[in-house]
This record gives sequence, C-alpha cells and structure tokens, in this order.
Amino acid sequence: MENKKEKRGQFTSKLGFVLAASGSAVGLGNLWRFPFTAGANGGGAFVLVYFVILFIIGFTLMLGELSMGRATMLSPIGAYRKLKSKYAWIGVLGVAAGFLILSFYSVIGGWVIRYLVKAVSGDFNVTDGAVLGELFTDFIQNPLEPLVYHGIFMALTVLIVIGGVAKGIERYSKIMMPSLFVMLILLMIRSLTLPGAMEGVKFLLIPDFSKINAEVILAAMGQVFFSLSLGMGTMITYGSYLDKEQNLISSAMEIPLIDTIVALVAGLVILPAVFSFGFNPEGGPGLLFITLPAVFSQMPLGGFFAVMFFILVLFAALTSSISILEVVVSYAVDERGWSRKFSTVTLAAVIFVMGIPSSLGQGLWSHVRFFGRDILDNVDFLASNVFLPLGGLLMCLFIGWVWGVDKAIDEVTNHGKLSFPLKGFWTVMIKYVAPIGILFVFAQATGLLELILGA
Ligand code: PHE
Repeated sequence: MENKKEKRGQFTSKLGFVLAASGSAVGLGNLWRFPFTAGANGGGAFVLVYFVILFIIGFTLMLGELSMGRATMLSPIGAYRKLKSKYAWIGVLGVAAGFLILSFYSVIGGWVIRYLVKAVSGDFNVTDGAVLGELFTDFIQNPLEPLVYHGIFMALTVLIVIGGVAKGIERYSKIMMPSLFVMLILLMIRSLTLPGAMEGVKFLLIPDFSKINAEVILAAMGQVFFSLSLGMGTMITYGSYLDKEQNLISSAMEIPLIDTIVALVAGLVILPAVFSFGFNPEGGPGLLFITLPAVFSQMPLGGFFAVMFFILVLFAALTSSISILEVVVSYAVDERGWSRKFSTVTLAAVIFVMGIPSSLGQGLWSHVRFFGRDILDNVDFLASNVFLPLGGLLMCLFIGWVWGVDKAIDEVTNHGKLSFPLKGFWTVMIKYVAPIGILFVFAQATGLLELILGA
C-alpha cells in the first residue's frame, strides 16, 4: 500500500493542494470564458443565475468529488468501479468530457501564447479598437499559425504532466497563482477608472430580469461546471492524490470561493473596458484578446504589463489544462496499466488532432456551423453544457443513493475526527436539491418543462 501511494505521488501540504486545485479551477474559464459568456447572455442576469447555481452545485459537488477521490485513491473510472462496479461508465463519461474540453482549451491556450509573443514584440502600440479587432481576426482565420500555437500549448501541458504531481503541478502553482491575482487587481483598477467604465460595471452587476431565459440558465450552469472543473472527475483525481489527514470540507469551500472571486475580477477587468472603448459585449470568444490590448495601451508601462499578464494567463491556462490531461492520463495508467509517459504523449497527440477542426472553424471551415454555432462553440457547448452537468447529475445521485452519504461523510470527516456542522445541509443538497436543480435546467433547456406545464 505504502509503495502504491508513493508511485501515485501526493501533495506535500494543504496549501500546495488548495493552490493546485484552485489552479485547476482558475483558468481560461474565468479569464476568457466568464466575461464573454456573461456578455453574450445579458450581463447581470447571467451573473445572478450563475450565483444561484454556484450556491447549489459549488460546495456540494466539490466536496462530493474530493471525497470520492480520497476514499478510493483512484482516478474517476476506478473510483466508481471500486465503490460500485456497475457504475464505472459514469467515469467514462467524464474521461470523454476531458478529451472534448482539452481539444478546444488547447486551441485557446494557443491564442494566449500568440498574444504573449505579440506582447513581447511590442505589437500592441495600437489604440484603435477596429485595428485590434482586425489583428485578432487575421490571426485566428489563418489556417496554419493557430495550429502551431495549439501544438505548443499541448506540448507544454505534456511536459508538466510528465513531471508528476507533487514536483510538477504544485511547484508551479505556488508562485503563479498569487501573482496572477495581484496582476488582475491592477488591471481592474485601470479598467474601472477608464471613462465610461461604470456602464460596464452596471451591465455586469445589475441584473435585467427580463433577460433570464432557458438559454441563459443553461449557459450559467455550464459555466459553473466548467469554471469549477466539476462533473468530469478532475476533483476526484486531485482528491486521490490527497493524504488522509487533510481537511476536505474547508478545501471544498475555499476552491469555489477563490474561483468565483477571480471570475468576477476578470469580468470587472474586461466589461468596463468593453464599454469604455465601445466594443460589443456580445463579441464572443475574441473579447479578451481584443479588449485587453486596448486597456494596456492606456496604462503607463502598458507594454511591460501586457507581457506579464499574458505569461500569467498562460500559466493559469496550463494549471487547468494539466488537470484535464491528468484525468485522461490517470485513467490510462490506473485502468489500462499504460506507463505514465506513454499515456501522456499518446493521448495528448490524439487530443491535439481532435482540436484541429475547432481551430480551422475560425477561418477555413467557418461555413461549417451547427445550431448557429461554429465548431469550437459546438464542442464547448456539448462538453460544458451537456457532458459536465450530466456527469455532475449522475455523480450526485451516485454519492447520495448508491455509495451513500454516510460513507461519504465518514471520509469527509476523516472517520469522525473532524466536525462537519453542514452535514445535514450537504446531505439534502447532494441527494435532492442539486440533482433536481440540474434536471430542471436540462428540462427547461430542451423545452420539456414548457411542454409538461403547458399541457
Ligand atoms: N476550470 C478550468 C478553467 O476555468 C477548466 C477545466 C474544466 C478544468 C474542466 C478541468 C475540468 O479554465
């Protein structure tokens, strides 16, 4: 047993773990996806629904995943299998989601690297918003260049994952996460003091209730899952690397808290600037890349800050991408007995290829559209709005009704050693409120609810 544990690697401290797990949660989901998804879904209305869903899902599922991981010390599929072998397929769903998410995540990670290179070569001395928009479109429409950067991002992810858990992930998280936060606060201050910035603040924080509809609610649910890395077993995997003395309860509160603060601050960097410079808040996935250079152009030492910022975004993206690849790799290692190195390289290559259509869909294949969305948006929609919440729903039901809350609580309290005042709350949430809530959003989004209520 001792040997097996050592081979899997472990986090060496509580701080290391919380930083690594928040490193997984905080990433492009907060900095890139939250601002543009809020922008496209009515701003304040979206943020309000986001908070409601966060309250229902965040702590509930975070604690659920961590407890499953640490109870079994296995990757998602193995964890389900060990607790009740019939249900291993739920873990398979999570691994599938991991493939899909990393495929487009790495494309966006590539865009970040490109922008870092631009920042280093001082390309941002442009103040004209239209020009910044063109620079971005020219780049993403090019068939080859974004693919090269997609490859570089994937290669970086592989290098870190091969390094192993404690040595790789933990070491990088400790320095980069706090630096990112300081940087975001500086940017927020600059953004909020731009002329007309308050319009953006109002847009983001004051909900227009008439904008809340099934689509907005589904988008908010997908964003909660994506941003917190929930529903596919990332936190099962991280929990499995955690030693038995650590406090899961406080971790399950701290991680969503940190993640939410970063998303909000990122929103308060991007949206005020969007309004101040007259960009369109519904600008979609390009919002971060078009808006930020404009902000830097209005800052003393803007060129220097731009470089620093894109380095930190890149690290935030990498601490998330490694956690996604980790799920896929730990499956191959634990379940298939492949070597860590071989799994990492092979699976990353497969995911790289899967990401190619998402990248080409920005230019060469932009005519390939389903449901009014380009390829990348469709893969994102399928993974974040369908697979993750579905995985989360099944996980709640599994923990609440199959494995059993008593066993989960036993794990969470370190076998009775820790007190867990929220025990009753958590039980009700994981058995009833969270699964019914997720089902409700799904039903509404598919129009089912309207059908039933209308009949
Ligand atoms: N939470 C990460 C982010 O916000 C993305 C992610 C999703 C990571 C799912 C792991 C699993 O960038």
